[in-house]
Amino acid sequence: MSATPPPVPPFALHPFSLEGDDEALERLKQKIERDRGFNCQFYKDKCLRRRIAVRMRARGRHSFTEYGELLDREPGEYDILLDTLTINVTKFFRNLETWTAVEEQVVPALFAMKTPQLKVWSAGSSSGEEAHTVSILLREWTERNGRAAEMARVQILGTDIDRKSLETAKRGEYPDLSLQETPEPIRERWFSPGPPYRIRPEAQRGVAFQRRDLISEAPPPEQNLIFCRNVVIYFDREIQERLFKGFFEALVPGGFLVLGKVETLIGPARTLFRSLNNRERIFQRPA
Ligand SMILES: C[S@@+](CC[C@H](N)C(=O)[O-])C[C@H]1O[C@@H](n2cnc3c(N)ncnc32)[C@H](O)[C@@H]1O
Repeated sequence: MSATPPPVPPFALHPFSLEGDDEALERLKQKIERDRGFNCQFYKDKCLRRRIAVRMRARGRHSFTEYGELLDREPGEYDILLDTLTINVTKFFRNLETWTAVEEQVVPALFAMKTPQLKVWSAGSSSGEEAHTVSILLREWTERNGRAAEMARVQILGTDIDRKSLETAKRGEYPDLSLQETPEPIRERWFSPGPPYRIRPEAQRGVAFQRRDLISEAPPPEQNLIFCRNVVIYFDREIQERLFKGFFEALVPGGFLVLGKVETLIGPARTLFRSLNNRERIFQRPA
């Protein structure tokens, strides 16, 4: 006697949940926001689907509804899902060539600015590697140029939506992977031997971290330099345009914006900013 094979669930036809089931996905998005305050309404659907599918597959759930039920039963799964959704990958000196360009084209102009403070914002700072990289870069530059005392003007703020990443940022302890792109002399000078590698307290001076949602909260004002790298790529077009306009308004005249290598300005911001370095995605608010 041959048994009737079980019906093939829709998930098996679309193993990565890349399409279909729009209503169930919408319900799941609303549920995540209600339960955990994580607003995924403005993230690109394709991106969300791919990420949620990773967890569904790992937990053997075949629909967004089934997965939502699992989230109700297991708070631990919620934590893992949020980790998966926020994509926290980062490194010190990520894309070294960008940092070289920042050092040559931005740093001298930054220290020539007349504002009493020099405010640098790392928006979407993840575990703090970017904010700490700025600190190291500015310290090295001011020392080499006999202007170390001017570091007193510098305030660096790292913000992110992800609490766990922010805890790592504040602890200042990093695995080997975080330092993969860091030149050896910098590693030796600014980190205690590891792993874990501890960033030296001197490089942490003037660096603060805060939880902030880029989508629902206004940018901190009067910034001289904003880094927002590898963050907007996950947002839909309308949000990207709104963020770029917000960055423009948050910058002092002459202030700088650095985006990720695969990101670029879209919408009205394209004419608001002038491009300083196309390849490295460095822009300037005209003075
Ligand atoms: C790939 S990391 C980029 C880290 C760093 N900027 C870099 O380029 O190496 C993206 C970060 O954006 C953060 N993020 C995503 N959505 C956010 C939001 N709505 N508000 C603030 N941060 C957000 C994530 O938590 C994650 O830490």
